[in-house]
Amino acid sequence: MGGLRVTAVSSRGVGVNGRREVRAALKPGDVLQIGAAKLTVRPSRSRRAVILEVYEPVSENGEVDYERPDTLAPGPRMSPWSWALSLGFAALFLLLPLSGVVMPGIQDPLRATPLLPSDALWSPGPLHTAHQSIGNRCDACHVKPFEAVRDQECLGCHATVQHHVDIRTADVSLFEGRQCTSCHMEHKQPATLVQRDPRACTDCHADLGHQKPDTKVRNASDFGTDHPEFRLTVLASIGTSETASPWRAIRLDRDDPDHFVERSHLKFSHAQHLDPKGVKSPTGERILGCQDCHRPNSSGRDMLPIRMETNCSGCHSLLFDEHDPTSGVPHGNLEAVYKTLREHFSHEYLQQSAGATSFGGGRQARRPGNEQRAMSEAEQRRARDWVDTQSLKIARELLEKRVCASCHEVTRVPGLSGLEQWRVEPVQLTANWMPGARFDHAAHVSETCVSCHNHAPESKHATDILIPGISRCRECHGGTGSSAKVTSDCLMCHPFHVPNRGLWLRTTASPQRVSR
Ligand code: HEC
Ligand code: HEC
Ligand code: HEC
Ligand code: HEC
Ligand code: HEC
Ligand code: HEC
Ligand code: HEC
Ligand code: HEC
Ligand code: HEC
Ligand code: HEC
Repeated sequence: MGGLRVTAVSSRGVGVNGRREVRAALKPGDVLQIGAAKLTVRPSRSRRAVILEVYEPVSENGEVDYERPDTLAPGPRMSPWSWALSLGFAALFLLLPLSGVVMPGIQDPLRATPLLPSDALWSPGPLHTAHQSIGNRCDACHVKPFEAVRDQECLGCHATVQHHVDIRTADVSLFEGRQCTSCHMEHKQPATLVQRDPRACTDCHADLGHQKPDTKVRNASDFGTDHPEFRLTVLASIGTSETASPWRAIRLDRDDPDHFVERSHLKFSHAQHLDPKGVKSPTGERILGCQDCHRPNSSGRDMLPIRMETNCSGCHSLLFDEHDPTSGVPHGNLEAVYKTLREHFSHEYLQQSAGATSFGGGRQARRPGNEQRAMSEAEQRRARDWVDTQSLKIARELLEKRVCASCHEVTRVPGLSGLEQWRVEPVQLTANWMPGARFDHAAHVSETCVSCHNHAPESKHATDILIPGISRCRECHGGTGSSAKVTSDCLMCHPFHVPNRGLWLRTTASPQRVSR
């Protein structure tokens, strides 16, 4: 006869001596791998018989081990009894369930029969805990018998999975043919549904230019030995337009020191406040630590944003008259500041307090017995003018000389007078410097703040960037081959499905390929 042949029913083929083949002729010594099981072809004395050694995988701590082989020797060695028994089993476990697949109509009655084994008997192992709720509904994933799991089944339940690249770009085409199952596994997998083989990333990222010649993303194949210095991302305001999002994310390179600055439009000196001798406060000298201004958020991952009210106003008041503790203006809104000032001076005018009496009209209008007399129009205008002048004078002082101006960048719009002439540049403190990766303060609480942010105590300007570079991380984190350091694969720091790139589903359903 023509020898032994194997034909795979799925287009993915089967493993023959470590290679994927759809069709292959077998000879003694060849090793077949189907799923996780290994079959070795052994020579046999009989010309018509083949001996197959079956190795059943046993999963322990994630490793796939192969048990001692069971030898299957089909053919003439089997007794008629064995034959009958095997055929019986085949009918019970193979033909009946198969007929359910071929003839969907009888599927439910078959499932309901208690005498028949459930589909689970075919299973190479239990599902991951995240999928346990699927139970024995194998057809949730395996729709066509003997075919690899298709993306559409996964997407049926995971319709909101995000893509890795912006789905409006041509980059999507690089993922053609990358099935969900090329990175996700099922059955008998230990801790995770995700394949943590670095090749799932380095296939592309070791030499991304090969896949996408015009990319600006630099290559990375191992965190310890081949990974670029981090770029940081900050928001920068563009132009002076107050309409439509004036902020744009820009990427900063450490090798470009002129542009390696943050533009939060806030003035601040860490060095001044972290003076080891202490700083003045209403309750006397205080020595400040990082935690006086930076507190972790509820997850511990990031720091809460700096707030004037919580972090600064204890020492920095907003009094416009230092001798009058009631003369505070509200924070954060120029209109409200101006309103407060106007109310203050209107009140003062009416009260005929020291400053206001020197103004003609004020005294007369308020003479005893004259309270009921309404102000004449001319008087009203005079009062308004005076209040405006006073308010504007103080506003100018606050916005150009002290208080607001000491913390804020304030610009003047040429040609305008009145309140409209000032603009407190919007404050933008960066919260996420590395949107392309994750960093978690909570995982590093054992370290002191200055062990990473070592420049903080001497930084004199808010424009200084205090975020550590890759060399600091490498003191502890090594690549996948490293044993002396924390072994760090790509997935420790990077997600694959990135938020806001668009739904994976949409690209498969209706490819929209617009070049950027
Ligand atoms: C959550 C989806 C899911 C469910 C539910 C599921 N499987 Fe799977 N199964 C997979 C994936 C993914 C593979 C990996 C092979 C592939 O790419 O098709 C797989 C592989 C297999 C294989 C090996 C095939 C091969 O090519 O390696 C068998 C046999 C199998 N499953 C049987 C079952 C049975 C029986 C059930 C019901 C108890 C079941 N599966 C339920 C997802 C699933
Ligand atoms: C019948 C619905 C269903 C199908 C089909 C299904 N899943 Fe899931 N999957 C779930 C549910 C439910 C969870 C758990 C809740 C969650 O994390 O969203 C889950 C969780 C996951 C997770 C996250 C696991 C974790 O540890 O957080 C991954 C990855 C995943 N599925 C991948 C797949 C892939 C790949 C397929 C196709 C082979 C698939 N799923 C098919 C319902 C499904
Ligand atoms: C190139 C590899 C790759 C491909 C292809 C891929 N994934 Fe993932 N997937 C990952 C990795 C890595 C993670 C874990 C890291 C993360 O959180 O993004 C993950 C996480 C997930 C999660 C859980 C976290 C989340 O973002 O919801 C789900 C669900 C998931 N994948 C479903 C799918 C589905 C469905 C497909 C097919 C349309 C798919 N994946 C294709 C690599 C891949
Ligand atoms: C099929 C090829 C392919 C695979 C596989 C792949 N990527 Fe990417 N990756 C890309 C492309 C294309 C880009 C976008 C390049 C660009 O914008 O020029 C990208 C971008 C990135 C970026 C940069 C994001 C940014 O905007 O700065 C990171 C980080 C990244 N991938 C990590 C990973 C990780 C981690 C994995 C493995 C889980 C992975 N990639 C798997 C092709 C791939
Ligand atoms: C008196 C309040 C205060 C104290 C104390 C303080 N900070 Fe800050 N910190 C700020 C303010 C305000 C900003 C935002 C302005 C800026 O970027 O400088 C900031 C920003 C930062 C940033 C992010 C911005 C960047 O440029 O990198 C880091 C990191 C930081 N501080 C670390 C520290 C560390 C470490 C300490 C302790 C050694 C510390 N800070 C003590 C008020 C403070
Ligand atoms: C413990 C008290 C204290 C806290 C809290 C504090 N500061 Fe200060 N700050 C001072 C003192 C004292 C000075 C020095 C004042 C001087 O020299 O006139 C100062 C000076 C400044 C200056 C320079 C002012 C100038 O006129 O040169 C700025 C800007 C500033 N602080 C911003 C902030 C910000 C923003 C916060 C909140 C994140 C803050 N400070 C929190 C006590 C404090
Ligand atoms: C001690 C420093 C300090 C002083 C003095 C100060 N601010 Fe602020 N201001 C801040 C900080 C810090 C923020 C950002 C965090 C917040 O909103 O609390 C801010 C935010 C603002 C914002 C919001 C900006 C935005 O884009 O959201 C406005 C407007 C503002 N301040 C106006 C003023 C005005 C007007 C004054 C004077 C009356 C003033 N500030 C005085 C520190 C100060
Ligand atoms: C292992 C190094 C490391 C240590 C230790 C560390 N940081 Fe950070 N810190 C970072 C990195 C990296 C970032 C940028 C992360 C990002 O934005 O995604 C950052 C960001 C920040 C920021 C600005 C962004 C934000 O979340 O507001 C502040 C403020 C900050 N750290 C303060 C601190 C303080 C306070 C401590 C001590 C309690 C501390 N850090 C300890 C590495 C470290
Ligand atoms: C002083 C040593 C040290 C430094 C410096 C350090 N790390 Fe870590 N990092 C660790 C350790 C230890 C863990 C915990 C490892 C584990 O859980 O297996 C960790 C965990 C992490 C994790 C996983 C967090 C999680 O959610 O489980 C990330 C991401 C990470 N580090 C990123 C960074 C980055 C980025 C830097 C540089 C800015 C950095 N680390 C600097 C020691 C360090
Ligand atoms: C210890 C954490 C860590 C590990 C491990 C790590 N990265 Fe990164 N990676 C980062 C950080 C942080 C950035 C900067 C994030 C940003 O650009 O927002 C980055 C940036 C990148 C970029 C963008 C490069 C550019 O041109 O700006 C790529 C691509 C990338 N990493 C791929 C990988 C790959 C592939 C692996 C696995 C071989 C990996 N990374 C392992 C932390 C890590």
